[in-house]
Amino acid sequence: MIFVTGGAGFIGTNFVFEAVAAEPLLVIDKLTYAGNADNLSALEKADGFQFVRADICDREAMARLLALHRPKAVVHFAAESHVDRSIHGPADFVQTNIVGTFELLEAVRTHWSALDGAARSTFRFLHVSTDEVYGSLNATDPAFTEVTPYAPNSPYAASKAASDHLVRAYHHTYGLPTLTTNCSNNYGPFQFPEKLIPLVIANALEDKALPIYGDGLNVRDWLFVGDHCEAIQRVLKIGSPGETYNIGGKNEIRNIDVVRSVCRVLGELRPRPHGNYEDLITYVADRPGHDRRYAIDPGKIERELHWAPAETFESGIRRTVRWYLDHLDWVSSVRDGRYRTWVEKNYGGRAVPTSGRMRISE
Ligand code: NAD
Ligand code: DAU
Repeated sequence: MIFVTGGAGFIGTNFVFEAVAAEPLLVIDKLTYAGNADNLSALEKADGFQFVRADICDREAMARLLALHRPKAVVHFAAESHVDRSIHGPADFVQTNIVGTFELLEAVRTHWSALDGAARSTFRFLHVSTDEVYGSLNATDPAFTEVTPYAPNSPYAASKAASDHLVRAYHHTYGLPTLTTNCSNNYGPFQFPEKLIPLVIANALEDKALPIYGDGLNVRDWLFVGDHCEAIQRVLKIGSPGETYNIGGKNEIRNIDVVRSVCRVLGELRPRPHGNYEDLITYVADRPGHDRRYAIDPGKIERELHWAPAETFESGIRRTVRWYLDHLDWVSSVRDGRYRTWVEKNYGGRAVPTSGRMRISE
């Protein structure tokens, strides 16, 4: 079995749908505003899928789950992930991303230390991190490599950098077989519509403004979420313990051009009744401390693990827009909070089980 923390979030959901075909999974998720257990309801009756609502900050709960299920790996997605929210309220980011990762590492270290033989040597803790830990690039700077010094600029990036350092230290000091991935901006199905691409799709369909921070010339390196999940699988299977791997799509695009691409594809698939979607573009005040440019050099994972993305930005953005158009009910239930009602109804008052299975619909 593999544990997947944060498996009800955007990337976690995509990862779980792929990975469950090959391995039994236990999703551990607190179901914050960003976690949507309904994403996984199609797996409710699938063999090898289990879900438990729990907080990674709860070391005892993590220890109980580890003792009960004896997983061969932990893939750690759980985090507060939105930069703007970290600017408005950094406390949750410190709590989950730093303290939560620490508590999880402590539970895992205790569990792993008691293993022996193959169970000990093949165990893996894979920490999913971000390119934002490296800070901001100028237009002519080379892309981030695994040895680029850390220079996080937002509370989110700082909290992820701290968690990366803890993971590094647990390998260096205790020998815990860790793997760390630092990935660029993901996009694709199930992304919460607070992030740029799903926000623009959802707003455009409601004829609302498409907000562009600052001059719209900030550059991000976009990767289709399925390609990120495939990279994580590869790192998990054949990555070397203690190593870090940068993951990116070599798709550096200015924000304004990302938004124009979304408008163009939407215009083809679902023409705006009056005018063009681009007419909705609205420049708004910039994000404080807004990093200018991110770019990932994925040379190491390409060379050593033979990973390469399957999607171009053009093919990936088309798949993404199509998915949102095909799942308008998902978008509206997230936007109007209906999914929270379902979460509370289904999960309110549940505790982490001390034994047995806890399926999503029990
Ligand atoms: P997300 O915000 O969509 O999902 C996060 C999930 O973690 C949610 O299901 C939430 O309920 C859960 N969670 C939050 N706090 C928790 C806690 N204390 N205990 C248990 N579960 C908790 O995030 P995402 O975009 O899917 O990102 C997943 C991971 O990948 C994060 O670690 C993020 O830093 C990293 N990452 C994201 C991107 C990106 O572009 N989205 C890029 C690189 C790295
Ligand atoms: O680089 C990886 C990171 O990518 C991940 O670690 C984060 O979890 C993920 O949220 C993402 O961070 P960004 O801040 O880059 O993503 P976001 O979608 O919030 O913003 C993308 C760019 O678009 C950024 O330059 C800010 C800008 N933006 C964003 C929003 C929400 C706008 O111009 N308008 C907006 O309304």
